[in-house]
Amino acid sequence: MTPTHTSLSLQGQAALVTGASSGIGRAMALAFGHAGADVAVNFVRDADGAEAVVQELRTMGRRAVALRADVSREGDVDAMFQRAIGALGTLHIVVCNAGLQRDAPLEQMTLEQWNTVIAVNLTGQFLCARGAVREFKRRGPQGPSAALGKIICISSVHQQIPWAGHANYAASKAGVMLLMQTMAQELAAERIRVNAIAPGAIRTPINADAWRTREAEDALLKLIPHGRVGEPDDVARAALWLASDASDYVTGATLFVDGGMALYPAFIGGG
Ligand code: BGC
Repeated sequence: MTPTHTSLSLQGQAALVTGASSGIGRAMALAFGHAGADVAVNFVRDADGAEAVVQELRTMGRRAVALRADVSREGDVDAMFQRAIGALGTLHIVVCNAGLQRDAPLEQMTLEQWNTVIAVNLTGQFLCARGAVREFKRRGPQGPSAALGKIICISSVHQQIPWAGHANYAASKAGVMLLMQTMAQELAAERIRVNAIAPGAIRTPINADAWRTREAEDALLKLIPHGRVGEPDDVARAALWLASDASDYVTGATLFVDGGMALYPAFIGGG
């Protein structure tokens, strides 16, 4: 299929989105469904949230399945891919989105907090990307997309902005950056595109403390030149573009969806 500028259609494609029972993952799963994709909706705890996303996708006429898996566990991830492929036939798009925070000042951070964040945010992306590559190659090039497959890693502005009190999280996202770039370099010749989105402050449960009160939101807005907190759909629209053939020549890129947060806003009028 020749990519055109006219469509962001994912018609006939199958996607797996990890951490899709809420927040950014949920928005991406629904955006992919609206664009015509069938979707496997991964969750680890919130079965009801995942089921609601599945129901919404089915209402659109898509095939959809909720799959419980802890992305940091190899056995869980392998089983999730088997079940997703069993339900949807294959996968064309895998979004490595599942992530968490376990915040603490460095001297109080436990090894468990460190290991949990690295395991889910970094090792989880490795395991899911590896599963994706194996399935793309098993299926082979026939299919509705110009690419053999697309992997989207959900990173963070904190892949480059140091974040006091969040050393484990910033380290995990910096790791995602070079994991993504290395995979993109390694896989480009096989027509597997690997890209990342680096969201800033998006209104989701993970950072509710940063926007729940008026005072907190005012403090947060000082870090966002655009002047508003991001919404999950801001990220979902970027993900749709990266998943579609409209971005066929894009690989190894990180798309910042952050309202300018990574642009050192503290320097506005200073320095
Ligand atoms: C974090 C949020 C935070 C945002 C901007 C994200 O990666 O998960 O908690 O609000 O970065 O600092």
